[in-house]
Amino acid sequence: MAIQISPNGRLMTIQTNDSSYQMLADKNGVLLHLYYGSSIGAEDLSDLIVRSDVGFSGNPEEAGLDRTYSLDTLPQEIASSGVGDFRDDSVRLAHPDGSCAADFRFESCEVVSGAYSIPGMPALYDTDKKNSETLIIKMKEKASGAILHLYYGVWEEENVITRTASLTNAGKEPIYIEKFLSCSMDMMDRDLDLISFTGRHAMERTMERTPVTHIKTEFGSIRGTSSHHYNPAMILCDRHATEDAGDCFGLCLAYSGSFTAMAQKDQRDQIRVQMGINPYQFRWCLTEGETFFAPQVILSFSNQGFSKLSHQYHDILHEHMCRGRYKHERRPVLINNWEATYFDFNEEKIEKIAAQAGELGIEMMVLDDGWFGKRDDDNSGLGDWFVNEKKIRGGLPKLSEKIHEKGMKFGLWFEPEMISEDSDLYRAHPDWAITIPGRVPNHARNQLVLDMTRSDVRDYLMARFEEILGNTKIEYVKWDMNRSICDMYSHIYKGEQSGECYHRYILGVYDLLERFVQRFPEILLEGCSGGGGRFDAGMLYYSPQIWCSDNTDAMNRLDIQYGTSFFYPISSVGAHVSACPNHQTGRSVPLSTRADVALAGSFGYELDLRLLSDEEKAQVKEQIKEFHDYYDLTHEGDYYRLTERDNTSFTAWEFAAKNKERTLVEVVKKDAWGNPLPVHVAIKGLEDNSMYVCSLNGIKRSGKTWNHAGITLPKFLSAGESMKFTFMKVE
Ligand code: GLA
Repeated sequence: MAIQISPNGRLMTIQTNDSSYQMLADKNGVLLHLYYGSSIGAEDLSDLIVRSDVGFSGNPEEAGLDRTYSLDTLPQEIASSGVGDFRDDSVRLAHPDGSCAADFRFESCEVVSGAYSIPGMPALYDTDKKNSETLIIKMKEKASGAILHLYYGVWEEENVITRTASLTNAGKEPIYIEKFLSCSMDMMDRDLDLISFTGRHAMERTMERTPVTHIKTEFGSIRGTSSHHYNPAMILCDRHATEDAGDCFGLCLAYSGSFTAMAQKDQRDQIRVQMGINPYQFRWCLTEGETFFAPQVILSFSNQGFSKLSHQYHDILHEHMCRGRYKHERRPVLINNWEATYFDFNEEKIEKIAAQAGELGIEMMVLDDGWFGKRDDDNSGLGDWFVNEKKIRGGLPKLSEKIHEKGMKFGLWFEPEMISEDSDLYRAHPDWAITIPGRVPNHARNQLVLDMTRSDVRDYLMARFEEILGNTKIEYVKWDMNRSICDMYSHIYKGEQSGECYHRYILGVYDLLERFVQRFPEILLEGCSGGGGRFDAGMLYYSPQIWCSDNTDAMNRLDIQYGTSFFYPISSVGAHVSACPNHQTGRSVPLSTRADVALAGSFGYELDLRLLSDEEKAQVKEQIKEFHDYYDLTHEGDYYRLTERDNTSFTAWEFAAKNKERTLVEVVKKDAWGNPLPVHVAIKGLEDNSMYVCSLNGIKRSGKTWNHAGITLPKFLSAGESMKFTFMKVE
């Protein structure tokens, strides 16, 4: 039983295979957090909370003269606001009389089978209700009577617990929600590190590790997207946790808009950890009977370090967040023309690139930015999703037909959420662009953002998709989004509702994405936002792969893909082989290394293949064969990071088949040193009692020996050189 409730209905214990989570509604109805960690029994752990006189913290009315009972010090599951918990709140409510207070007490709880869904937002799904159960806790706000539901989705085998919350206005007066986080939890006294993934455009998801202290560690986005700058995911772990050892708690938000995440020790050294929608410019007016839902946080726990935690996230996101035909179906190897031509192409050039690609075994031609409207650079045309017949003579159906004649699939780039001021769409509907009346808007990439809160905007975009994708044979769409959102204003949601715009924007995006995937279920959708600016679990609900970064330099990609791998399945990582010198860094790296790095993702090419030598073309053919050969490992296997990020000498990683029949190890040498040292690589995930042969040296050893002794590469690699080898189970 994944969820156990005590006979009096107030002690709730959640069990997954390897973790337990316990809450207690105390005699005053305050919902206490008692435990989250390694799997234990279901006995009441409330004796772990030992109280002392904290009179200065203040005491709620129920405490009477008991100065040890304080909302300011008790470990809780929901952080009230304005009523005596002076730590960060998780639900902040303003009332018509101007007061700001939110104080919830337990009412009841129930267990339902299967996973909960969240209206209009992504969430882990459980089609057959076989994998999960949901605990729903009902709480009531003391004065306004508003009803709070806390949802806990329990995925026993997967070691995952999800959380979200909803608030219903049960009164007559409106309530203004000023903050409504998905998850708040107070972990009892312990020392933990916080790992986050920070970065910038073309250098996303760089791992950063910092101790959790009394000084608040908070990160997030106010850009309207999850952003390049911080990823909506974090790990809290033992100070000495490594890939293979230590307690690690993951929190991953399935949300693609502005978010916040924080951890802080309180005065009693308990750690409050929170995650959810960023309260920046957020104010939601909830009228009588209305309900507001927070997005989902996916929690997972491992007491065996980061590798296990990553496997749990990879498996749950791949299996229960990604949807559609390409969830497990082999993704086609693609050629994208962006870095090959940028805006300078016509149908002839595209056909030639496709012809060359087809000869080498590439399976899909993707036409990137510039095929529509007046779009010869990035200053105009966005919104005019009509083919530019000057560039693509004969139109898209004809081009697509020519490409299909070569035995290839065809894909197309869109940036649906954007509008250029120099576009017919803007001239016809200036009010569709997000700008504040009376202010000149900020421009980014010389474009504005469409007001996705509006249903007429979404209908227009859907009609353009319908016309183009309905009349042309297209198997893939890249859905891009190339700027942050500011100057927020909507002509529909204005005045009292203006604080709803950022969240309504992302609900509008999800609505359009949902209509898209329902209408075009055969199309492989790849998410993108200036590379990896919206690489989050929410987007995976619609697009099983996301362009990981605009940086295609193989050496930089080692770090970017390393950071990405902590939460996101390798199959979701868009990775391409591009030209050298690299367009972002100017660095040259051997073609073999570029392909080896791209193999750790959804594989493709992004260069003018016609410029390759015959020898390089032969290499490309070989690389594509390898991609197919290793597909079951790279897209369906278990991924292990074999080196830490600060290993300046080399980076290594491994894919192990789920059935442990074979593994693939990849190594890239990073730096050149005088008098170099040999590269010794740790091997992981082989079955201890089976025998494996290494393809590098033909040596046969037990999995146990390989796992413990590792392997020393038989040759020295030069900087930028890579090597890959397998271990095959033989007995
Ligand atoms: C973004 C994407 C790129 C490319 C360009 C086109 O930067 O990340 O891959 O599609 O837009 O403008």
